[in-house]
Parts: sequence; C-alpha cells; structure tokens
Amino acid sequence: MSTTADFSFIHFTDTHIMAGGTYGSSHLDTAATLRQVVGVLNALEPRPAFAVVGGDLCSPDLLDRSRTLTAEEYEPSYRFLREILDELAFPTHLLLGNHDHRVAFHRVMATGGPSNDAPHRWSFAYGGCRFVGLDSHVPGQAWGEVGADQLAWLRAELATYRGQPTFVFVHHHPWPVGVAWMDAMPLRNGDDVVAALRDFPDVRWLVCGHVHLDGEVQRDGLTMWTSPSTCFQVSKLSQTRKIFPGPPGFRLFTVGGDTVRTRVLHVPAEGLAAM
Ligand SMILES: [Fe+2]
Repeated sequence: MSTTADFSFIHFTDTHIMAGGTYGSSHLDTAATLRQVVGVLNALEPRPAFAVVGGDLCSPDLLDRSRTLTAEEYEPSYRFLREILDELAFPTHLLLGNHDHRVAFHRVMATGGPSNDAPHRWSFAYGGCRFVGLDSHVPGQAWGEVGADQLAWLRAELATYRGQPTFVFVHHHPWPVGVAWMDAMPLRNGDDVVAALRDFPDVRWLVCGHVHLDGEVQRDGLTMWTSPSTCFQVSKLSQTRKIFPGPPGFRLFTVGGDTVRTRVLHVPAEGLAAM
C-alpha cells in the first residue's frame, strides 16, 4: 500500500450518553468521561484528521431496563451527544450499536438518509485510503447483523474503489475476543461480512467497538482491532459479566507511506468508585 500523505485518525467508541442520568451503582457520568476524552483529543499534535465513533453512542435504555424506550425518549441523549461532539476540533463519522435507537439517531443527527429506519452506512476517501462504516444495529438485540442489502452495498463499494487501502468499521466484532459473555453477542453474520472483505485484498483492517476493551486479532492478512470505551470497561480476565467504571480510552491510528500504526491511550479518570 502507499498513501498520499501522513495523517492520523481516532477510533473512540461506546460513549453511552444517557441524558438526565448516570450509570450503575457508581453513578458513572458518561458525558463527563466523554468530555475528558474530547479534551485530550483536542490537545493531540498533530491534530487528527477525523474520528470514527464506533457505536453505542447513546443508551438511555440503561436507565430503565424494564421497558423499550421510544425514539422521543432517546432524542435528548442524541442532542446531548451532538453538543459534546461539537466541542471536538475535527469531524466525526458515527456508527450505530446495539444500545442505539436508529430513528432517534437519524432525526437528531439529520443524517439525510433515505428514511429514518434505514441503516446508517457510509464510505469516504482520505489521504489515499478508503474508510467504510457499516451498521450492525438490530432493534431489541444485543448481537448485531449486517443485512443482505448492506452486504451487497459493501461489495459494490469495495469493487468501485478497488486498489485503495481500506479500513472497515462496524460496532459488533465478528471474531471472538476471548471473553465469553461478550463473544455470546457478536456480529452474528460475521462470517458473511469477513468473506466479503476477503474478496478484496485492499481491505486489511477492521475496527470494532462493543467489547469495551482493546484487542487485536489477526487472521490471514486481515486484522481486527477493538477499542476501549470512553466510559466503563470490560474485564479481560472474567468470562462472566464484569465491568469497571474506567478509565476512559480511545485508539489512535497513524498512517504514513506503507505503514499503519495504532495504539490505545487511556485518560486518567479521577474519583471513579468501584462499579
Ligand atoms: Fe457498549
């Protein structure tokens, strides 16, 4: 591969904004931790070109798990997220996760999609590379899926831009990360998605959220990276549900010449009680 310019970009994910509430017994303020991350991102030199926000953008559902929230009940959380992202010094490209609400997202973010329940997928070029985002949100489910129409779109997009080094982003992970309770809610048709990517050798990087931990899995020339959350994190040691209130984190990518480098940075979060 050879890119046209050196640049960096960010993957931060699982922001879990919930307007009017805090999360869990430790009362984790997910807006405050996201603002801490935004503050660090704005201080990075050189300035990143853009950020991909990897899904589970908003989750007011975590404040009341006894019922399904309406789009109207989700909208204040998306407005709150938009307000925080407006503080970022570079543009963002957003993905949907299992905790999101697609209709509320489209309405508040004014995505200009074909309809308010259409998958939010995108593709753009930067620095000689191609960046493709997929929507794996399935209403009411913790696992994810990329629908047949979107898979067809993906194949067409990759065929159109064949020859460009390509990064693909999706919320759910297609390959196990070794944490059983997380691996029970993966990208259910991950094999289909990976098969599509494998038909295009320019696709060498797949970046996921969802698991709230940093990881790397390589299989035959394709690398899947996962990134920590901007709020609570998942234990790598426990196979059953165990989460921690922090520290907030993000992933930095640096692309130059024929090299892609990446590392995870954590932001010290003060005053976090045990969750
Ligand atoms: Fe999440």
